[in-house]
Amino acid sequence: MSTPKPTLETTFAGIKCMNPFWLASAPPTNCGEQVMRAFDAGWGGAVWKTIGAPITNVSSRYSSIDWDGHRMMGLNNIELISDRPTEVNLREIAEVKRRYPKNIVIASLMVESKRETWHEIVQRAEDAGADGLELNFGCPHGMSERGMGSAVGQVPEYCEQITSWVKEKARTPVIVKLTPNISDIRMPARAAKRAGADALSAINTINSITGINLDNFQPNPNVDGKSSHGGYCGPAVKPIALNMVQQVQSDPAAALPLSGIGGIGTWRDAAEFILLGCGNVQVCTAVMHYGYRIIEDMQDGLLAWMAEKGFTTIDDFRGLSLPNVTDWKYLNLNYKIVARIHEDLCIGCQLCYTACWDGAHQCIHLDRTAPAPDTTRTPAMVEATSAQRISTTPIPKLDSGGAAHSSAITPLERIPRVDEEHCVGCNLCALVCPVENCITMEQINNGLPPQNWDERTSAGLVPEGAREVMNTNG
Ligand SMILES: Cc1cc2nc3c(=O)[nH]c(=O)nc-3n(C[C@H](O)[C@H](O)[C@H](O)COP(=O)(O)O)c2cc1C
Ligand code: SF4
Ligand code: SF4
Repeated sequence: MSTPKPTLETTFAGIKCMNPFWLASAPPTNCGEQVMRAFDAGWGGAVWKTIGAPITNVSSRYSSIDWDGHRMMGLNNIELISDRPTEVNLREIAEVKRRYPKNIVIASLMVESKRETWHEIVQRAEDAGADGLELNFGCPHGMSERGMGSAVGQVPEYCEQITSWVKEKARTPVIVKLTPNISDIRMPARAAKRAGADALSAINTINSITGINLDNFQPNPNVDGKSSHGGYCGPAVKPIALNMVQQVQSDPAAALPLSGIGGIGTWRDAAEFILLGCGNVQVCTAVMHYGYRIIEDMQDGLLAWMAEKGFTTIDDFRGLSLPNVTDWKYLNLNYKIVARIHEDLCIGCQLCYTACWDGAHQCIHLDRTAPAPDTTRTPAMVEATSAQRISTTPIPKLDSGGAAHSSAITPLERIPRVDEEHCVGCNLCALVCPVENCITMEQINNGLPPQNWDERTSAGLVPEGAREVMNTNG
């Protein structure tokens, strides 16, 4: 029997949507015209640029970090919420919903911390036809100085209070957007859950200063010679976002349907967030960088991967990776891997050698010309010989149209050797090696049964001193 064709249709906190790809509340959802173009491109939903208290924005607003030829690896902004009048935003939401009834529009809201003010904005957003509400408890600059945004998200009691006010009035699902600028994101998540939130979204942007101009000593983005800490997002924040998503979803007191946000730009990113328990994902920086049409690859890629893996729906793989993230004390201390260098792929650059000697455990050697490994020489002697040889060994022909990916033209003396007995399996050499799959990490059968730190301490195998410094908060 053949597996049914995969579908991207999802139901998130009771909101049915044609796919799990939503635009995050940000400039790509500033106005109705943009949101409609995004829906035409294929986005399932859009969280409207936050509506609420009146603001004035500064100029300039964005700065970024480039990394190794990649522009906007991390994006920083000091923009506030929507600077358009609330009634204009709400009228456009109504118009978008009239024209695109099947697409999801979520109203992102932020007003001053008063019960009546929240009740009023909730009513107006729902009257305009919003399918749900997202409470912006995350904006890290400007609004927080006025007691809104992350000033709320950082204090679980405020978070709980405002969520409960909103829940008193709301008829549609309420999503609480969490700030990452807090030591334990589970605390505001638990508070939101206690107050009856239907869902969470994470993360908003991370406090950051992207850089200082070394000519005039002024920070970026420059506003008349000064700047302010801004919110960081884009590819650089994805690992932080994944960690926070995992923390929330692994905590029964916090877990709710979760919309994953932070550095998502490809179907692979989206799949990772869903594997850690997210019901859908939101995207900002990648769309600001490459435009709405990235959705085409995201949809095609996710569907193709689901078909390959035999998944029919998003729920089939949601959360599958959660049991694989655990506390360090439960990791198998008897699991042993070592680095293996594949000579046929090695180009003899010796980056692995340098990394292992200076940054790891001194167990990659440049002694391949010796007829047999010489165990009489100390590491210092091996290094001295290698250092001498490095300047005399011919460089492989890196410009020979790919042929250099073969040890046929990489002199043997440039291909390093791993001393497997002393290799601790840290992965560093494989991470720095510029040739894909040239260094693989392979498991060694050491004949030992699995055993973790927790088991060792319970069995009394841990020296007294080590037990004393154990973290009892685990
Ligand atoms: C210029 C800019 C403006 C933003 N404005 C808002 C906003 O008004 N409300 C909000 O909840 N989040 C806002 N965000 C945060 C995004 O919605 C999102 O949480 C964050 O950028 C992380 O996602 P990303 O890595 O895909 O950009 C803004 C982000 C940027 C870059
Ligand atoms: S194994 Fe990789 S890093 Fe090491 S020399 Fe060969 S190509 Fe360079
Ligand atoms: S895995 Fe670590 S210890 Fe082992 S050879 Fe590579 S860098 Fe050295």
